[in-house]
Amino acid sequence: MSVQVDSERLAEVVPDALAAIHEVLERHRVTEQEWHAVLAFLTEVGRADEFVLLSDVTRTSVLIDALTHGGDESGATASDVEGPMYTTEPPFRTKIYEEYEGISPDDDVLFVRGTVTSTAGDPVPEAVVDVWQTGPSGGYDVWDERQPEGNFRGRIRAETDGSYEFETMLPKPYTVPTEGPVGRYLEAVGQHPWRPAHIHLKVTAPGHQTLITQVFFPGDPYLDNDTIGAVKAALVRPVEPEGDHLACRFDIALRPAA
Ligand code: BEZ
Ligand code: FE
Repeated sequence: MSVQVDSERLAEVVPDALAAIHEVLERHRVTEQEWHAVLAFLTEVGRADEFVLLSDVTRTSVLIDALTHGGDESGATASDVEGPMYTTEPPFRTKIYEEYEGISPDDDVLFVRGTVTSTAGDPVPEAVVDVWQTGPSGGYDVWDERQPEGNFRGRIRAETDGSYEFETMLPKPYTVPTEGPVGRYLEAVGQHPWRPAHIHLKVTAPGHQTLITQVFFPGDPYLDNDTIGAVKAALVRPVEPEGDHLACRFDIALRPAA
């Protein structure tokens, strides 16, 4: 992702950002040795490609999401942080996983369904819903050698009435990556690395603003204690038994394009 920032905007924000950093350095009388450690840490974060992760665990991503999308009373579905695990253009499929060694008989198949509408309540038949999530064990496909590439990722096109459905498995809480510099940071500041179970969605449709969000499930031990602070009450959805599997309804309302 390469986004150009307007030079007027830079002239407005950068001096204030520097003044804020300088004020903290002065207030805490930060030493040369400590500052060099900070620079070495940030260099490592860049080398490990962990800047998004750092933004997430410092809850900066949540703040930027709130500044960008918060205070909206249009009735649109609440947005949430994208995180670093999205991969572009997952395959179109309504069952988004393949079985792998690591699924236990106690793990639950989950159907997620809902409708995509505009904030005015009209169906959005052409909406495309990208989903990505962890499996019931081993985390994301890219972290788990047992899972085929692209497991628990998929893309669903809404029907003519705006409805969509996909088959997955109920995810579990997981830890963000801890083996790199951000993991060392978490340990140093005493912050746990756990996220509550969730499913990520990115919903696109012509004439509407793209929605990036997450769905959470009641009763999760990390709902009040997400390491990236991304849980919103409006995004916690019940899961109900339905025959031999579970089902969760997640209706989505999109804002009109700006
Ligand atoms: C995620 O929700 O996928 C995620 C967020 C932060 C770090 C790693 C993963
Ligand atoms: Fe995630």
